[in-house]
Amino acid sequence: MFDTISDYYDTVNTYFTFNLDKSWRSLLIEKTLTPGNPSITLLDVATGTCEVLKTAYETFPDRILNSTGIDPSAGMLSFCPSKLKLALPPSTPPPLLLTSSITTQTFPHLFTHTTISFGIRNIPSRSSALCNIRSHSSSPLSCPSSHTCPHPSRLGILEVSYTPHYLSDITLSNLSLSTPLKILTSYFVHYLVPSIGYLINGFDKYDEYRHLVDSLEAFPADFEREVEGLKCEDGGWKLEEVEERNFGTIKVYTFTAV
Ligand SMILES: C[S@@+](CC[C@H](N)C(=O)[O-])C[C@H]1O[C@@H](n2cnc3c(N)ncnc32)[C@H](O)[C@@H]1O
Repeated sequence: MFDTISDYYDTVNTYFTFNLDKSWRSLLIEKTLTPGNPSITLLDVATGTCEVLKTAYETFPDRILNSTGIDPSAGMLSFCPSKLKLALPPSTPPPLLLTSSITTQTFPHLFTHTTISFGIRNIPSRSSALCNIRSHSSSPLSCPSSHTCPHPSRLGILEVSYTPHYLSDITLSNLSLSTPLKILTSYFVHYLVPSIGYLINGFDKYDEYRHLVDSLEAFPADFEREVEGLKCEDGGWKLEEVEERNFGTIKVYTFTAV
């Protein structure tokens, strides 16, 4: 599906978010990469057109030892090389880009940090994806000694998360000052986003944008609990923080491997 909209993906994002998407990805990178292991081996899941990897190298040019981006859409990944060329510090090896699904891919080494930006709700099996990431993450339990691996891996997830509020949902008991904004956001997302996507991308792309909005509306409001409740073979994820932007509709969740 993303192959069909990849040509306009970055442009549409910029318009829909009034260019705020870049600051949200910067927040993801800062929240995920700031504490913890000073030498980063980064996995970016659902890497798309490599906006997150680009931001990571621009923010922490000296700390990233190596990075990997994974996405099944070759169309999205095709935008990465030219974009990354400008962002990578001199003599830095380019990220390894894998055209593959995170639910099945295995990696030859562990990662100290993993990021997922606007991707987790598009992955059909969230639990398989998050457990696969966990099995490729370092934790004190998997370390030979606390000296060689003092920091547990961190996972940062950026996602749109809101409960749609339509006029018909409003009652006296749930009325508050933020109600008009919630209603406006719900109608904007439900009706205008697919239509604008359709106008920019072409008349045959309405279904793709409809699907994006449907997946957004189906995303659980208590996603962090879902992640904390996972019992993976190699352990699980402990919630560190949920940072909100845009009246709580944009969230950056950070977890550590346990
Ligand atoms: C909305 S885009 C996000 C792209 C990018 N992370 C960003 O911030 O703009 C969602 C991406 O998830 C990818 N995706 C869907 N299923 C996936 C899977 N099973 N494994 C990895 N990526 C997946 C899609 O191909 C698409 O590029």
